[in-house]
Amino acid sequence: MNDIPFDLVIRNGTVVTAADTVVCDVAIRDGRIVALGEALSHGHREIDATGQFVLPGGVDAHCHLDQPMGPGLRMADDFETGTRSAACGGTTTVIPFAAQVKGESLRAAVDDYHKRAKGRACVDYAFHMIVTDPAKTVMVEELPSLVEEGYTSFKIYMTYDDLKLDDRQILECLAAARREGAMTMIHAENADCIAWLTEALEAAGHTAPRFHADARPSLVEREATHRALSLAELVDVPILIVHVSGIEAMEQIRWAQARGHKVFAETCPQYLFLTEKHLHLDGFEGAKFVCSPPPRDEANHEAIWNGLATGVFEVFSSDHAPFRYDDPLGKKAFGECASFQCIPNGIPGLETRLPLLFSEGVLGGRIDINRFVALTSTNPAKIYGLYPRKGTIAVGVDADIAIWDPNISWTISNSALHHNVDYTPYEGMELRGRPITTILRGDVVWDDGIFSGSAGAGQFLRCERPQPARPARP
Ligand code: URP
Ligand code: ZN
Ligand code: ZN
Repeated sequence: MNDIPFDLVIRNGTVVTAADTVVCDVAIRDGRIVALGEALSHGHREIDATGQFVLPGGVDAHCHLDQPMGPGLRMADDFETGTRSAACGGTTTVIPFAAQVKGESLRAAVDDYHKRAKGRACVDYAFHMIVTDPAKTVMVEELPSLVEEGYTSFKIYMTYDDLKLDDRQILECLAAARREGAMTMIHAENADCIAWLTEALEAAGHTAPRFHADARPSLVEREATHRALSLAELVDVPILIVHVSGIEAMEQIRWAQARGHKVFAETCPQYLFLTEKHLHLDGFEGAKFVCSPPPRDEANHEAIWNGLATGVFEVFSSDHAPFRYDDPLGKKAFGECASFQCIPNGIPGLETRLPLLFSEGVLGGRIDINRFVALTSTNPAKIYGLYPRKGTIAVGVDADIAIWDPNISWTISNSALHHNVDYTPYEGMELRGRPITTILRGDVVWDDGIFSGSAGAGQFLRCERPQPARPARP
């Protein structure tokens, strides 16, 4: 008989799930949690977590890695650098996007994305899809088998010329999601309003990065959010509104939720910690903060905090969309004099997502630690069909764990991050609390400042249907 029954025992930590907080030991064998209790028997490796929090590894359900871009642009992070960075920030599962090219098949996008991920991921991963062309052949012939195989969510866009769908196409997507039991994620900004405002700004010579925010005011997000909610009500299907930036869109979501509609909402660090003023930085520096929707102001930050605490939001993701600043394939691809509308949209955030929310949310007294776990791990795992394998600490589930030291104070510096981007929008921010150890299916991949994971260790995850498949509404 083996007298060391466990591979790893984490002793005496404060184990936190979305529901409970208890001091106990966690025992791991063969990559799974096999016991929770007091004074558990020995492990080959033991970690003393006294005074520390033992949390489920983060699930980052909205990030972009190695997503094919148009000519002259390249995302800075591939599956290796992006997931390495995720692990060092306490995240053990990521869900990036396999994006359909207009006119091509969804299956081709998924197959291509598997090639990009193969042998490179350092944490586990599933795929969302991006639907840019909901032709009948795609929605009726391709989607059912893709959902069956574990690709159970897709994002659609109401803006960006190469991605946007019109209302009729959105309805077709929502109807397909209902038929197949898939989750539709919606990027809600009104494309025509943005185009009209952009044209007027450019005609007046207003092309600097800061005008990005003027071209995408809250109103364009509010209108599109309302429309998305109405279209989902018509089809009678749950949706998730991604990267909500402030109060106006939130009001629409609250309104729909109060009417009893199953509407999920996601927000991101940029809407708590960055403002439109960042876009005003000297020269071209503002380009580092160009993302859509744009960061708003402090009043909107307060509203978002309130929504995180009160349940308007179920998910807190990074929307990591990595472009290097000093790079001809990145933010400066079209030159520093190019109009704001040419700047690739997106900011990095996989590694800083959890520490920012832990420091300012949990230790700042704005949300409790169970809500932190719910927002960053449990809820996304549930909404996208990965729960309970991912997103919690319980006997039988994958041993994906982040151990947090709440007593560490540190300053964010890009030089100490692990992505392949040459800046972080949060440079110099002083935080409290940090994930000091990250464990992926029982293996320590980040400990005391050292990354020890490996490319290829991350496994592909098939997602369950997030909701039952239902026939078309009569
Ligand atoms: O600016 C952003 N958010 N870029 C990433 C793509 C998206 O719309 O999520
Ligand atoms: Zn988006
Ligand atoms: Zn995104």
